[in-house]
Amino acid sequence: MKELRVGMLGFGTVARGVASLLRQNGRVIAERCGIELRLTRISTRNPNKTAAMNLDGIAVDADVDALVEDPTIDCVVELIGGLDPAERLVTTALNRGKHVVTANKALIAERGMALFSVAHSNNKDLCFEASVAGAVPIVKAIRESLAANRIESIHGVLNGTCNYILTEMRERKLSFAQTLAEAQEKGYAEADPSFDIDGIDTAHKLAILAAIAWSMPPDFGGIHIEGIRHITDSDIAWANEMGYRIKLLAIAKHRPEGLELRVQPTLVPLGTMVSQVEGVFNAIFVRGDHAGITMYHGRGAGEHPTASAVVADLMDLGRNLRAGLSSTRVPPLSVANDHLHPIPIHGMDHLECEYYLRLAILDRPGVLAEITAILARHGISIDAIHQKGGATLSEAVSLVIVTHQCREMDLQTSLAVLEGLETVRGKPVVIRMESGLN
Ligand SMILES: NC(=O)c1ccc[n+]([C@@H]2O[C@H](COP(=O)([O-])OP(=O)(O)OC[C@H]3O[C@@H](n4cnc5c(N)ncnc54)[C@H](OP(=O)(O)O)[C@@H]3O)[C@@H](O)[C@H]2O)c1
Repeated sequence: MKELRVGMLGFGTVARGVASLLRQNGRVIAERCGIELRLTRISTRNPNKTAAMNLDGIAVDADVDALVEDPTIDCVVELIGGLDPAERLVTTALNRGKHVVTANKALIAERGMALFSVAHSNNKDLCFEASVAGAVPIVKAIRESLAANRIESIHGVLNGTCNYILTEMRERKLSFAQTLAEAQEKGYAEADPSFDIDGIDTAHKLAILAAIAWSMPPDFGGIHIEGIRHITDSDIAWANEMGYRIKLLAIAKHRPEGLELRVQPTLVPLGTMVSQVEGVFNAIFVRGDHAGITMYHGRGAGEHPTASAVVADLMDLGRNLRAGLSSTRVPPLSVANDHLHPIPIHGMDHLECEYYLRLAILDRPGVLAEITAILARHGISIDAIHQKGGATLSEAVSLVIVTHQCREMDLQTSLAVLEGLETVRGKPVVIRMESGLN
């Protein structure tokens, strides 16, 4: 039987999963592809860390540069993460005539265009299914299964760490800091969690999905990004009381004026499917003009789920090799690189939605009238207003306001005025609401 010889860079969480999946399911994988996927070499910073796993027949060393030059290897699996040296290693591997499979969303979102161009000029594939939503086959779904559609919108929960934190905060009435500490203990959050909780990881994934959906170069810089650090247990409790959940959502909407690209905590009505996505799970909803809405749900991270996506990419390469099909048969971003075109971004100022506002105010006579008058002056009408806490006149109380649909620009201008009031303490918390979701 023919074989595809695979070299793997890194031996962390995902790489361990790939080695173990190839070992456990090697036979069935070979039957399905008609070709054997053979892991022949692993190069990682600290080869001693591979000792716990049986890697008989696989060369292990620390020389990542030698692996990408190794003439016996057909395909490099990059699982070290980050931009450098990953970009350099992937570039070299492609230039040496090897296909590359990666799970590295930062690399694809931020350096993808240069790498796709190197892949194309070498007639090699650069595959990245595992870079978005782990086991959930969303890259292939948008690029291939929905290829006949004009995509109208994508929204979803793309970061299991944030979703776990928000779920636990709600269910166990814990603070953000307590829940984050627990997530770190359980291995759901990194020691430095900023990429996850500040929305960067989600934005990398959104940049990739939008690029495929709208045949554009990944536009990470065009995404409005907000994380979940400022969400408190009281916001979650308020949302619950009003019939909403708070989710960190990736949202992309194609409008005549341009593309809306946002990562933000969002109030979503209970009863919508996205409100039911709990814990470490991911879910993506894609609306196509002919398919309508489709939903993809599953484990977005972890050793085994992510390995499942990496190995599926390897199987595609194996099948192409066996059938003698040209690489780049399916362009990575759905159309040939030279047909990709940037799309203007629909600026946040022009966004229109409903808003949840939480202000800490001193409960003095007339303060409510003053706040509502300022909002009214900026064309913002109020749907609901709630107040809680504060035993004395000098103690701040929480005032929660839900607005009707209004323009972001008007809201931001009015907030600047509100922040200047003597009776308003600290920065108001603003969470956008999305009512038209599935
Ligand atoms: N973990 C997930 O659930 C998940 C899900 C989807 C996508 N991804 C992506 O998959 C990739 C790998 O993630 P992971 O969680 O497996 O990471 P990880 O556990 O931190 O493993 C990274 C591996 O790469 C090695 N490494 C890092 N820098 C290196 C360098 N300069 N030279 C040689 N080896 C180096 C590390 O060595 P040391 O052990 O010595 O540090 C470690 O073995 C990332 O791009 C990540 O975003 C991960």
